[in-house]
Parts: sequence; C-alpha cells; structure tokens
Amino acid sequence: MLILGIETSCDETAAAIVAGDRRILSRRVASQDAAHRPYGGVVPEIAARAHVEALAPMIADALAEAGVALPDIDAIAATAGPGLIGGVMVGLVTAKALALACAKPLYGINHLEGHALSPRLVDPTLAFPYLLLLVSGGHCQLLRVDGVGAYRRLATTIDDAVGEAFDKTAKMLGLGFPGGPAVERAATTGDPKAFAFPRPLLHTREPHFSFAGLKTAVLRAVQAEGTARAADIAASFQAAVIDCLVDRTANALDRAGHVTALVVAGGVAANQSVRAALHALANRRALAFVAPPLWLCTDNAAMIAWAGAERIAAGLPADTLDVLARPRWPLDPEAEPVRGAGVRA
Ligand code: KG4
Ligand code: ZN
Repeated sequence: MLILGIETSCDETAAAIVAGDRRILSRRVASQDAAHRPYGGVVPEIAARAHVEALAPMIADALAEAGVALPDIDAIAATAGPGLIGGVMVGLVTAKALALACAKPLYGINHLEGHALSPRLVDPTLAFPYLLLLVSGGHCQLLRVDGVGAYRRLATTIDDAVGEAFDKTAKMLGLGFPGGPAVERAATTGDPKAFAFPRPLLHTREPHFSFAGLKTAVLRAVQAEGTARAADIAASFQAAVIDCLVDRTANALDRAGHVTALVVAGGVAANQSVRAALHALANRRALAFVAPPLWLCTDNAAMIAWAGAERIAAGLPADTLDVLARPRWPLDPEAEPVRGAGVRA
C-alpha cells in the first residue's frame, strides 16, 4: 500500500510517498520563508502562488526518489483544511486531478489529524487513547485521541495560538521570521527569571489556554527596555509559555481518564525546552512520553500520507471529487466554541 501525500495549508509546500507499513520512501518540503520574510509573517496570496509553482515538480521528484510511478500509487491524500484557503485549494485540486487522471482513491485530510496521528508513523507501539498537546502556529489544543477520526477536545486557546505568540515575540524583538526557532535560539543565552511575565490561567480550574496577556507583557518589556535585552526577554517569555503548557496539560490529564501516553505534536513541539518540560510532566504522572522527530513536528506531507494510510487501515471511505477545501475544520465537531476565541477552530 503506497500513499502519495500532499500538504499546502500554510507556508510549506510538501509531498511524500509513505507505505502502509510505515516506510517513508521519500519526503520533500520547500519552505517559503524567504518569500514571506520581508513582511514578517505569511502573506496568503504569496503562499498560494508559491505552492502553484513548487508543487507539480515536487510531486515528480518525490515519485522519482521513491522509485515509483503514479500508477504504482494506491491512494492520494491531500490536506483539505484547515488553513489558508488559497494554498489548500492548490494542493487539493492537484490531488483531485491526479486521482481523476489515474483512477486512484482520494482522501481529503484534516491537517490537524495529520499532526495528531504523526507520532504513530514513527512509533508503532503508540496505542489509543493518548492525550495529545497540539501546538502550532494556528492551534493550541489538548485532545484525547481515541482512534482514527475520534478526537475529543479537552482544551483550546481563548485567544492566540502558542506558535503565534512565539512568532509575535520574535517580531517585537526583531529576531526575524519564522519566530519560534529564533526565540528558542535567543533564549539559550538569556535569563528565564529576568522578567516576571504573567502565566495566564495558571492553576485555575478553567481548562483553556490564553496567551494574549503574556504577549502584551512582552510588548511592554520591549517598549521599556528596547531590544538590548532580547535574550532575557526571549528566555523569560519561553519560561512563561512552558509553565502554561505544563499546567494546562496537567489539568487535562486530570480530566482525560485513562490514556496510554502524553504526546506532543505540531511546530512548537520542535522546541527542545518545551519537549523537556512535558517529558518531565509525563514522568511525574508515570506516563509514556512521545514526541515526533523534529522534521515530523513542523508541516510536512508524510504525516498527511500517514493519516491517509490510517484512514484506509481503519476502513474509512475515500472522499469523492467534490470534497471541499475548508479554511476552518475542527477535529472535534462536538466541541463548544469558547468565549473570547478568535476565528480559529
Ligand atoms: O505545525 P507548523 O509547522 O505549522 C502550522 O500548522 O501552524 O507550526 C509552525 C509554528 C510557527 O508558529 C513556528 O514559529 C513554531 O511552530 N515553531 C516553534 C519552533 N519551531 C517552529 N516554536 C517554538 N520553538 C521552535 N523551535
Ligand atoms: Zn501544522
């Protein structure tokens, strides 16, 4: 069973060939960082145009590297949302055209499901149900993953996503784009106790995350100190974020019932200090801790192909060619919208 995966929901164009037995035959990612850097953030129209340019030759390269041709592929899996709609449409329409031309089944994958199941691509022993902390540029959620397509949201953010907070902090400190890795680098030479930044909702019974107050505190510190103390501000910001992530995850573990493991996924899971703090929490709770390798944390197409493989193995049906690209697509359709939440699901 060979699956071609396609990912275009944000600023990474990606294609991969993954086998149902977890072999990764090829994986390609083209970052658009250079195109967006002058603007300090992702510009949707630039992203969509860059996907158009990069995607078709990348799929050809991924097939060549895997040593297969399109007729050898058993299914095509492409991100169908949530994300920047222009980019999602580029990937999904490409997948539809290939599926139609080669008579292959098409799976429109929820990008968040890709992140949620990604740890199982590299860890065959990871069994359901597990508690997932999904931390990316657009999302900050705690989900109990009960099975393929069965997700219960235990918490989400009422304002900013955590990756967004990293990106905005980097921008305020003039550390460049993308912000997460830049803040992590700056923090290594700073004092995490230099600034007493707020830890919103810490130790409350409230289940959700909030980062807006922390972001405002960082802004005030930058206004007061300038960027001369960027390393101390970055380290203090990162320490506050980590305290919040650990506290909210502990709160969710108290409510989650039995889980086999604590799993972290999404771009912010690439942060070594975040990983270490969550690992320590898992140890305190006598739980296994699973974090995907760094390349699998940030956006990629292997996780999309793998979500397709999981759907096929679970006997879930393929999508028809009229499957729609969706800018918003919550993983848990039953979850109540939270007060104060922005546009993100
Ligand atoms: O999952 P992802 O690649 O794309 C989305 O689906 O959003 O996550 C990207 C986010 C960005 O906000 C980026 O700044 C953050 O993940 N990120 C990090 C690190 N690497 C990426 N945040 C903190 N530390 C990192 N090392
Ligand atoms: Zn992502």
